[in-house]
Amino acid sequence: MNQALLQVKGLKKSFNGIEVLHSVDFSAEAGKVTALAGENGAGKSTLMKILMGEYQADGGEVLLEGKKVAFSSPHQALKNGISMIFQEMSPFPELTVAENIYMGREPHRFCFLKKKEQNKMAEEKLAELKIRLDIHKKVKKLTVSELQLLEIAKAVSYDSKVVIMDEPTSSLTAMEVSLLFDTIRMLKERKVAVIYISHKLEELFQIADRVCVLRDGSIISSRPAEEVTEDVLISEMVGRELSQIYPKTDKTIGDVAFRVEHLARRGVFSDVSFEIRRGEILGFAGMAGAGRTEIAEAVFGVEHYQAGRIFLHGEEIKIRHARDAIQNHIALIPEDRARCGLNLSGSIRDNMCVTILDRIGKCRHLIASRETEREQTSEIAEKMRIKMSGQEQKVLYLSGGNQQKIVVGKWLLTKPDVIIMDEPTRGIDVGAKYEIYQLIQQLAGEGKAVLIISSEMQELLGVCDRIIVLREGQIAAEMDVKEASQEKIMAAIVNQEEERRKN
Ligand SMILES: Nc1ncnc2c1ncn2[C@@H]1O[C@H](COP(=O)(O)OP(=O)(O)OP(=O)(O)O)[C@@H](O)[C@H]1O
Ligand SMILES: [Mg+2]
Repeated sequence: MNQALLQVKGLKKSFNGIEVLHSVDFSAEAGKVTALAGENGAGKSTLMKILMGEYQADGGEVLLEGKKVAFSSPHQALKNGISMIFQEMSPFPELTVAENIYMGREPHRFCFLKKKEQNKMAEEKLAELKIRLDIHKKVKKLTVSELQLLEIAKAVSYDSKVVIMDEPTSSLTAMEVSLLFDTIRMLKERKVAVIYISHKLEELFQIADRVCVLRDGSIISSRPAEEVTEDVLISEMVGRELSQIYPKTDKTIGDVAFRVEHLARRGVFSDVSFEIRRGEILGFAGMAGAGRTEIAEAVFGVEHYQAGRIFLHGEEIKIRHARDAIQNHIALIPEDRARCGLNLSGSIRDNMCVTILDRIGKCRHLIASRETEREQTSEIAEKMRIKMSGQEQKVLYLSGGNQQKIVVGKWLLTKPDVIIMDEPTRGIDVGAKYEIYQLIQQLAGEGKAVLIISSEMQELLGVCDRIIVLREGQIAAEMDVKEASQEKIMAAIVNQEEERRKN
């Protein structure tokens, strides 16, 4: 049998005395895509960060082309042919796209940076990967999906033997995902070993040659992709049967709770009118750039709008600031959680309770309010299956998906009347997704109005009562979920292109 390009044997890792990887065996072959699946906190990123030299193993060994290696930094791993798209994107905000791609290996001549050459190289690399990004744009100006594309370009540009992708598509649209898959196929032809981590199971089935499941730090299975079914994969990941992915509850849809009329912001969206009834779950579908996030931000008061009116329970409200929205019991779970959702160096409890401090503050005694904080945090942590060592744990040390759960959870604590969720399940494993859907249904059941923005059409179809498709800042279609299908949504999303061609 062919020796795998990369082999991991008996790898162990502990943090603060708690073992999170127990003697893991894993391998990745040249020219193949090896998928690594597992729940939030299973240890996937930790295993990959050890390969990248970001963390050091406590035991076991890593062999690259049969030779034992142990890198002490990502820089060293890169030099030896392993690159990685990190789940937490960490580029330098003040640098341009081109500078980011070539950081640390800028083309020089006699100590002078050859900026023009660097720009040309970056442009060629992006063109080869069919990624549309302005190389002169500063990173701080990029959207979440652009950041992710930048990370992909960067990782691939190293011409590595092993390319690790830790949730490379969490913010990408279907179109961008298919471009990434073209890139992966190109890497396979070049005999690169690709390791692919994703919570979007359909992606694993599309691109993987082999699927390995990691649960609670142990490898549970490793098989050729064609031998794996979705049901088996899910039950191996979560360690229990999960009969359905989308829970349904009986609920009644009541009066209009929230109404937006002719909302407009120059160059971004125009004439956006919609309403959400009590108990209703409305979905916003559309491509990145269709204006969905911008509309949500305008309604929540973090971005301005030039025209339009907003009504809550039939009365007009003015929202100029997020504070106005919160006072009116409107909540927004933001898309860009790394930048505006979390205080990474704070504890889990501090992060959870930041949204309800006003309310808790009304308790007269400090001890009593601490107690409330503790109770509220443990309620949400339990409901959302947050994997943590305790409420005092720093958010920074939680796995990616568990961090997401905190952002979602802290807004659920505010008990809003209107709740807007921008990509609520991004990076969250199937088991926990189920819990989040259940929480959403529960909110709707209590008569709240819910708006969900999602790039996953299946999710919208599974969770919502009604779906609005946005296209270039305008409402392109609206449908009851009973009449909706993936094809219909897709058709509404792309319609414009066809119309343009006809004219
Ligand atoms: N630097 C750290 N310090 C302490 N604990 C850590 C650290 N990094 C990871 N952990 C813990 O190790 C466990 C595994 O985390 P890891 O990030 O590898 O999970 P994951 O499988 O990548 O999950 P996700 O799907 O959510 O990204 C978690 O319990 C996490 O809290
Ligand atoms: Mg991870």
